[in-house]
This record gives sequence, C-alpha cells and structure tokens, in this order.
Amino acid sequence: MIGLIGGSGLYELPGIRTVEEIEAETPFGSPSDRLKVAELEGKRIAFLPRHSYKHNIPPHRVNYRANIRALKDLGVKRIITVNAVGGINEDYSPGDIVVPDQIIDLSRSRVSTFFDGDDVVHVDFTEPFCPEMRKLFTREELTERYGLHTAGTYVCTEGPRLETKAEIQFIKSIGGDMVGMTGMPEAVLAREAEICYLMIAVITNPAAGITGKRLTTTEVLQTMRRSTDRVKQLIMDVLKSLPEHRDCPCKDALKEARL
Ligand code: HPA
Repeated sequence: MIGLIGGSGLYELPGIRTVEEIEAETPFGSPSDRLKVAELEGKRIAFLPRHSYKHNIPPHRVNYRANIRALKDLGVKRIITVNAVGGINEDYSPGDIVVPDQIIDLSRSRVSTFFDGDDVVHVDFTEPFCPEMRKLFTREELTERYGLHTAGTYVCTEGPRLETKAEIQFIKSIGGDMVGMTGMPEAVLAREAEICYLMIAVITNPAAGITGKRLTTTEVLQTMRRSTDRVKQLIMDVLKSLPEHRDCPCKDALKEARL
C-alpha cells in the first residue's frame, strides 16, 4: 500500500474512484480525516488530506504522529506527499514542480518524534527523502516531460503566518530553495516508522519579498489547483514502474538507531 498525503489545494485525485473509506484511530489520536483507499496503476493507494477535506486544520495543529501512524497501521510502506511551497530559488516559477532532496527544519512547537518515552532513538536523517523513490521521480524522461527541478532544499517554518522578507533572505542565505509549513515533522516521523517518504513540492507563489508583491492564500490555492492534473499524471507515471520490494535504507531506519 502507498500513502498519498495531499496538502493545500489537493483534497482528492481527480477521476480516481475510492474503493474504501477508513475512519482510523491511533494511540496518538485521530488522523486529519478519513483515509480514502483507491486503486491506481494496479497499486493500492491510501489518500489522506493533511489539512482535512474541509481544510480546517492549520499546519501547526496537524496531528502528524496520528497521520503517519494511521498510514503505517494500514500497511503503507511508501508515502508520497504533495506540498504547496513558496519559491525562493530564482530558477523557480509558480506552477513548477520540485522534487526536493534536503530539509532544514525551522518549525518550533511540534512533537517531532515517536520516541519521547524511555526509548532513546536517533534515526539517521542524512538523506531525509527516500533515495530510491527520488531516483524514480527524477528520471530524465519525467524531468523533461514535467519540467521538474530534481533537487532543492525545503525549509519548514512554523506558520501559520507567512514569512517576513528578512526571514526569506535569511533562509536563502542558509541554502533554502523553497519554504513550506508541513514537511516537518512529517518526514522524520515517516523515517522513524521505517516508511519511505518522497515530497512533490509545487511552487505556488514567490516567497515573501521575492517579487515585492503581497502574498495571498488565493494565489496558493489557485496555483495548486492548476497543477493538480500534472501532479497526478506524474504520480501515475512513477507508480507504473514502482518495484514491489523496497531496496533503500528507509526500511531499516531503526537498525543501529537505538541507544
Ligand atoms: N511560505 C510558507 N509556506 C507556504 C508558502 C510560503 O510562501 N506558500 C505555500 N506554502
């Protein structure tokens, strides 16, 4: 089973028929909403809208642990997420798709581990995204077809407010290419759960101060909606060639991680 977490503006995959709806519960509470299971390219997909179908859960209040645990309990081994992000790198334009390879976490108020009891676990996070899935998503043929940016550093801010111009300049100076509010702790929780994790970042707006224009959520949602069909097609193209068995370090993330 593959998990698909949809961000702002992505509450379903258009044209995909749901075969099962699941109201999950976890020791960490409820996930953002019902999971919708569908079949796509012969693979079973569990869809979860990060902010709920009604979009009433802001980034700092998403129950990231419940979301990852609910997907894990369903037997999900790989997660693909779609994230709306503000673009900082000058090569990015609204509507562009980036497959990031790195993360800088500037979030502040979130529970960011499953191991906050007596169990002392330090997972390796050198490569925060599954290298095997990144390779599949950034194949030359797909890069050309979708005009993909095949690497980039995703910076996670706390939100829910957008950034100041100075914060974006700071983020740029430390190597950030794009900014969003939900990549963390989602990515690290997936790693702790030994689930592969890959992000498709959609540039929905130039980040604060980049063009001098005021930012609006309307712009974010509109760009995301316009990109949905391309994102869905990209996911379908990758699913066709996704091997059944995983050959990456994510599946053994807890090996040699316990103190
Ligand atoms: N900043 C933070 N998160 C975002 C942005 C942004 O500019 N656009 C979409 N998500």
